[in-house]
Formats: sequence, structure tokens, C-alpha cells
Amino acid sequence: MCGIFAYLSYYCDKDRKYVVDTLLNGLARLEYRGYDSAGIAIDGDTDKEVLIYKQVGKVAALRKHIYEEEKEFDFVYHSQVGMAHTRWATHGQPSSINSHPQRSDPSNQFTIIHNGIVTNYKEIKTFLSNKGFVFESDTDTEVVAKLVKYIYDTQRDKNLKFHDLVKAACKELEGASAFIFKSTHYPGEIVVYRRGSPLLLGIKTEKTLSADFLDVEFSNEIETPDDPNSEFKIPSYAKRAQNQMFTSESGEQSVEYFFSSDPSAIVEHTRRVLYLEEDDIAHISSTGNLQIHRLRREDGMSSIRSIKTLEMELAEIMKGSFPHFMLKEIFEQPESVVNTMRGRVDFTNDKVTLGGLRNHLASIRRCRRIVILGCGTSYHSCIATRAIFEELTEIPVSLELASDFLDRASPIFRDDVCVFVSQSGETADTILAMRYCLQRGALCVGVTNTVGSTISRETHCGVHINAGPEIGVASTKAYTSQYLVLVMMALQLGEDRSSMSQRRKEIIQGLKELPEKISQVLTLDNSLKSLCENDLDGIQSLLILGRGFNNATCLEGALKIKELAYIHCEGILAGEDQHYNKSRSAFQQITARSGNPIVICNTGDTDMPEKTKTIRIPTSVDCLMGILAIIPLQLLSYHLAIMNGVDVDFPRNLAKSVTVE
Ligand code: F6R
Repeated sequence: MCGIFAYLSYYCDKDRKYVVDTLLNGLARLEYRGYDSAGIAIDGDTDKEVLIYKQVGKVAALRKHIYEEEKEFDFVYHSQVGMAHTRWATHGQPSSINSHPQRSDPSNQFTIIHNGIVTNYKEIKTFLSNKGFVFESDTDTEVVAKLVKYIYDTQRDKNLKFHDLVKAACKELEGASAFIFKSTHYPGEIVVYRRGSPLLLGIKTEKTLSADFLDVEFSNEIETPDDPNSEFKIPSYAKRAQNQMFTSESGEQSVEYFFSSDPSAIVEHTRRVLYLEEDDIAHISSTGNLQIHRLRREDGMSSIRSIKTLEMELAEIMKGSFPHFMLKEIFEQPESVVNTMRGRVDFTNDKVTLGGLRNHLASIRRCRRIVILGCGTSYHSCIATRAIFEELTEIPVSLELASDFLDRASPIFRDDVCVFVSQSGETADTILAMRYCLQRGALCVGVTNTVGSTISRETHCGVHINAGPEIGVASTKAYTSQYLVLVMMALQLGEDRSSMSQRRKEIIQGLKELPEKISQVLTLDNSLKSLCENDLDGIQSLLILGRGFNNATCLEGALKIKELAYIHCEGILAGEDQHYNKSRSAFQQITARSGNPIVICNTGDTDMPEKTKTIRIPTSVDCLMGILAIIPLQLLSYHLAIMNGVDVDFPRNLAKSVTVE
């Protein structure tokens, strides 16, 4: 996965340092999406010139490189178009040449940044090589930059508009991507295209916007191949409506735009955003006018894109006094679980109301089975809650790892309900699984942390977990909030079963006490750090054993330790609660074989032999214990990683969400 960001200013008189810093700061916010190399493209001293800077490594390395190279930081742009990219390599090694922006030719006529994969790039590359194009990188992205130039060169007499050129190129591409294009032939303009990868636009104007929506242009396409030997087709120009929402051609009204893979890079500039839909092409003209076009004409497609207000606070995406986002997010859990429950749990009347499901409750209760899907940590939250879901709803629940579900092309029917759990709402396998289930007529429910994400927009209904932005690559607070939302869903769905009312009461009481108990677990941080330093330093392998509701805790704890500390770790089924004796027997077998177990047990547990190392956590209702038990393991993985010298917010070879298959 990569992060893409663009900053455009019209009639704003910004100096080059401001523009460069804005781009780099935007990239730094997106760095969790990929951090093996980074680059920017900005206008030169004339609008016929584009400057490209690239550097292997993190955004800080790029910043250093630009500050060393750039001598004319005080150059003032009346208007300018800049783009920036932080890369997580999919095609081609991390290297300066493979990092973005990619370009059409050495004079940078077309520059492009890209998040995603062009799956048919080899065919296009062969086509363009036969036309004389010479490639400098191993990337699929460069192929697109050169394809645009090829269409421009061969159709020059047609005076194509920039978006038509991009449209013609994008029609030839397969795979899931988001692109941003800039060109010396279209100074002051930018065109972006989204299919399958997230992209939104922030708008900052001095004046109030003239409307809270934008009309999308649909155009008839007449396919007229210019070159009979060419596979590439050029659209004709249907009459276009005028969508000059933000500036007038004559008046110089200042406006700034920010395109980004996610809102975290936009919120410090503006809260007014527009989420692009699949196959939208947004075009900003040299006078700062925004128009949105469609790749193809489609019946029934809404022609309105509304401008929304971001609710996220800047403080939510800052590290504050914590050295790492991961630690900050672990410590946010007493608060994030409150936000997950806020306005949804009535502790007086023992009632849970998830507004996002309100209109679909009857259909969900009638369904034949519930299929819950996710990847990685999100999948573990599904494992953690399956038993309570079945117990409270009496509906059979099957769990699916999204990738495996797709590989098997598992049967799905109209009377199935499919729940898609994803922190980002953008994981490719989960999105593809969702579309597969939508096509088969199942009722699709999203559980995500990201408002406006693909999963939250394309599912029939759903619940936002409201954990706040999760920036650390290793998922922590999203896990506990996903877990909680799934328990809350089960409570709401099961509320018509009177035989369960006592059990529901007990769980809702447990929910009430949860934030305080999480705070108590967090006080173990120092002792967990000492445990790591004294007992776990230099270990090669860790086994985490548990059973029942804590099976998922073991799997999730092991995932955290593997991905952060690079220590072999496995989660294994053992026993707990009603399986307490079985767990004790597993414990005794380990000690009998001179193993040195560390036991996570309840504060009141007096059964542990005296010398046993214990991590004691408060007791809660059985089905909520997994929320408390995961926290020591999150902290252990954090401290082990620090001891092993790992940059926990950017672990090697790991991206936060995988937006390509
Ligand atoms: C693990 C982790 C990943 C994600 C997985 C799914 O710490 O973060 O395993 O859980 O890539 O991502 P989402 O939840 O965004 O679909």
C-alpha cells in the first residue's frame, strides 16, 4: 500500500518552502501506509517546468534531501500544483528510480503518482516498447505515465482536455488503483482517478462554498480509434455542463485543494471533504475550478457528490507525549472503548442500540446464517466473538479469512448476512469478498473504523467502531473496539430472546465496568517492561496458550509479537474459565518439562504455585475477558520490539492495510 497526497493552491501566493513543507507534512501523516521510499513533484520557476525529488527511505530522508538540494525556497507561486507519494513497493525494489512520481519522459511532460496495482501493465509495456518508449523503472506506474503521453502525442490535433486524456488511458487499465496526474502541457491543472483504492479531496476556500454538493458530468463516449493499429480508443467530447463551484474564470478567488489517500493528511487544513466514488475522474482547471467526470456512462449512477465535514480532531492523529503511535493507541483504549459505546448502550435499561443496523434488524434476525469476514487482527476479533454471537442470537455463525474465502469462491446465498470487519475499510481482500457477497444478494454489513471508506460506503448497513484514527501499523485499539462492536451487535440482535435476558444484563454490566478495568490493566505497563527485560531478553520463541474466549487472544498476541518483535511466536489452544482445569493441566505439563511459563490470570486467582510468574488482570464477564487479556500482550509486544531495536510504528516489511490483493 502507498500513500498519495497532492496540494494545489490558486491565487494564494505561497512560497516554495511552504509548498514543499505542506507536501512533506501530508506525506508524514500517510507514512504508515508505506515507507520504503518517497517523492514529490512541484512546479518549477515557470509553469512549463516540473521539479521531481525522490529518496529511498522515510519521509525524513526525503525532507533532508530536498533541503540540501533546493536553493530557491523563497520562490513565490501565484498558483501551483504539487504531488507527493510515500511508497510500499509492489513492482520493483525500493529505489530512487522506482519511487514515485514516475514520469513519461526525461522532460517530465507527464508526472504521476499511484496507489495500487495495474495488473495488465506488462501488455501495455510491450505495446509502448514497440512504439519506441524506453522505460527507466520496473514499476507498473511508469507504464501509465507513458501511456498518457502516447495518447497525447498521437491525438495532439484533437486538443484533448486533460481529463479526456486520463480517461482514455484509464480505460485501458486493469486492477485497483488511485492516480494523480500532472503535466507541463496542462499547467496549473491536475486530474485524479480512483478505482479500487481510496482517495478524497479536501477543499479550503476563503468564501463559503457555493453549494454542498458537486454535480458529476456524464458524457457519451464515441470510440474512435485514431490509429487503426492501436488498441487505444479516444473519447469524443459530449457537451459538458459547467461546474464552476469555487472560483469564477474572471475573479481571482483563492482556493486550496488537498487530495489524499485518507483524511489524516487533510484535517489540519480543512474539514470540508469530498469522497470520490469508484471510476470518478476529478479535474481541477488552471483557474482552480473543480469538475468530476465518470470513466464511463452508467445508468442509475448518482450524479451528486456531496461535500462532507470531517469530524476527526487533529490531536487524534498526533503522538502527544508518547514515543510511538502504537503506545499512544494502546493507552487510549479506556477512552476508545467509551467512544465505541457512546450513545449506543443504555446501562439503565440494559439495552444496546446500534443505529446503523436499525433498518435491517428484522432481516438479520431472519437470516439463515451470519458469515463474519476480515483479515489479520480484524479476523481475530471475529474469532473472539463468534461464541457469544451464537449464544446470544442462536444464529449459526461462520468465520472466514477474506483471502481464503475468495480463493474457495465459497457459496453465498440471498438469505445469508455477511459482516465485513476492517479497521481501514480498504483492505483489498475484504473489499473483494464484500463485492462477491453483494453480487450474490446477501445482506452486507460493514464494521469499520474509517468513515467514508470503501467498506462503509458499499455495504448495505453497518457500524463504525469510533476508535479514532489508528496510525500505528500494528492494530491495537481497533481490535478491542471491533471486538466490542461485535459483542454489541450480538446483544442487539438477541434482545428479543427473553431466555437470554439475565445473560445480556450480565454482559451489559460488564461493558459498563470495562473502561475502568482496561485502565487497571494498563497500570501493569512498568512491570511488563521489567518482565521483558529480565525474563524475555534474547528469547527465540514464545508460545501463547489459551482456550475458549481467549483462543483469539493467543492468536492476536502472537501476531503482535511476530510482526513487531520478529520473534517466533504461536498462539495455541489450551483452556480457561470453564476449562480452567484443562488449562491448569496444560500449565502443569509445561512446568513438569522444566518450561518457564508466565501466566495471565485473574487478580483473585490463588491457585497458582507461589513462584509462578503471573500477569494479573481484573475479572470480567467471560465473553469480555479477551478485551482485557489482549492488553498485556500488546504491551509485551511493544516492549519486546523496543528491546530488539524495532521502529514499532514502522516495522520492517509490514504495511498497515493491504489495499492490493
Ligand atoms: C495487524 C494488522 C493487520 C490488519 C489487517 C487488516 O496488526 O494491523 O493484520 O489487521 O491487514 O486490516 P484492516 O483491519 O484495515 O482490514
